[in-house]
Amino acid sequence: MALTESTRAELEEIVKRYPQPRSALNPMLHLVQSEEGYVSPEGIELCAEIVGLSPAEVAGVASFYTMYKRRPVGQHHIGVCVNPQCGILGGEAIFDALSNDLGIGNDETTEDGKITIERIECQAACTYAPSTTVDWEFMDDMTVDKMRDVVDKLRKGEPVKSTRGPEVQGFRASERAIAGMDDGLAESGSNNADAVMLRGLTVAKEQGMPAVDGGGK
Ligand code: FES
Repeated sequence: MALTESTRAELEEIVKRYPQPRSALNPMLHLVQSEEGYVSPEGIELCAEIVGLSPAEVAGVASFYTMYKRRPVGQHHIGVCVNPQCGILGGEAIFDALSNDLGIGNDETTEDGKITIERIECQAACTYAPSTTVDWEFMDDMTVDKMRDVVDKLRKGEPVKSTRGPEVQGFRASERAIAGMDDGLAESGSNNADAVMLRGLTVAKEQGMPAVDGGGK
């Protein structure tokens, strides 16, 4: 799909948020992904033209960060954290089950274009390991069966809610939100750390354990 004049206008709007045009590159690339499902060569050219960099420089940024995709992502992106805490507690088993069920490997998409699966790094959600994401919304404390149920629903087009509240909207919609476009969902999830997340801090305070010299108060 070709990028439109309206995409160009939105990219130019993003640039206005920053003192230097090149500083806008990261959200711009997310906006390109929201339109094309990946960072397309056309998107790289357009971003380069707008911020005054060479296409090679933009491609250098796009190829550095794993959140930028060089081939189209499916309707839904599923990330399975396989870093040690999640991997040991079930992340590896979840990834293997999904990979077998769907017949695809890491960073691959089902033939119907609905699901992409990816082995991802720590999402700072280790409290609820094994943690996964659907379109970058958290799915905490997952099991193989729970993730299979999530994937079944996504493939049937049924609604799926993050364990933290918001209903998942699809990869492209999430990319648009990451680019800073208001999706109206900012208040739809929990923004507060819960007792489980704060457990370590609570214990440290109870036992007067200092984090730094002079701490522990
Ligand atoms: S190790 Fe999986 S979220 Fe941290």
